[in-house]
Amino acid sequence: MKVPVGVLLSGSGTNLQALMDACAAPSFPAEIRLVISNRADAYGLERARLAGIPTLCVPHRGRSRADFEAELVAAFQGAGVQWICCAGFMRVLTPAFLDAFPNRVLNIHPALLPAFPGLDGQGQAHAAGVRIAGATVHLVDAGTDTGPILCQGAVPALPADDRDALQQRILAMEHRLYPMALRWAAEGRIQLTGRQVQIDLLPGEALALWEAAG
Ligand code: GRF
Repeated sequence: MKVPVGVLLSGSGTNLQALMDACAAPSFPAEIRLVISNRADAYGLERARLAGIPTLCVPHRGRSRADFEAELVAAFQGAGVQWICCAGFMRVLTPAFLDAFPNRVLNIHPALLPAFPGLDGQGQAHAAGVRIAGATVHLVDAGTDTGPILCQGAVPALPADDRDALQQRILAMEHRLYPMALRWAAEGRIQLTGRQVQIDLLPGEALALWEAAG
């Protein structure tokens, strides 16, 4: 049986799409059972609907964080999900949510953490003039992009890149990383010792990817 997964997002949902595409393969060990957005206009919700996946909009405005997160937890528990993937979810999660899914909440961040946490990692990297940029999949803790790192993918930041060109190159890497990490999670191949993540890698799998500029 496939491992049931929930997705949290706030925007366009290209990472959700990459996860759904991976889950569509019969041999993939996870299935997305519920997609929740805090924004009703998130295109990610439409992507989920098109794929026949149940969706929910849980607005965060005008209520306490505790109340908001309690509704998220109740919805995901009701759907029976075992892992949560944050995929462009623009809210910080507190222990009220995280304790309901201990060490089972993944996030993807568009920078090589611990560099450039928080908002607009790609813009921060571009402004800093880095030569190598990338993305990180990590377990979520109560900090902002501070949780234990599972895998990272690096891409070149070229002199001719504007912020958006760099973002696109990073995004393509994100779409490779996230399904790979979800597979490890669903197959129970992730072990956490303190902040160190051990992954039981199969031949050909890697914890770090590199994409040369095409
Ligand atoms: C991605 O860059 C992700 O790393 C960040 O938010 C963006 C979401 O993009 N957390 P999308 O909605 O998956 O297209």
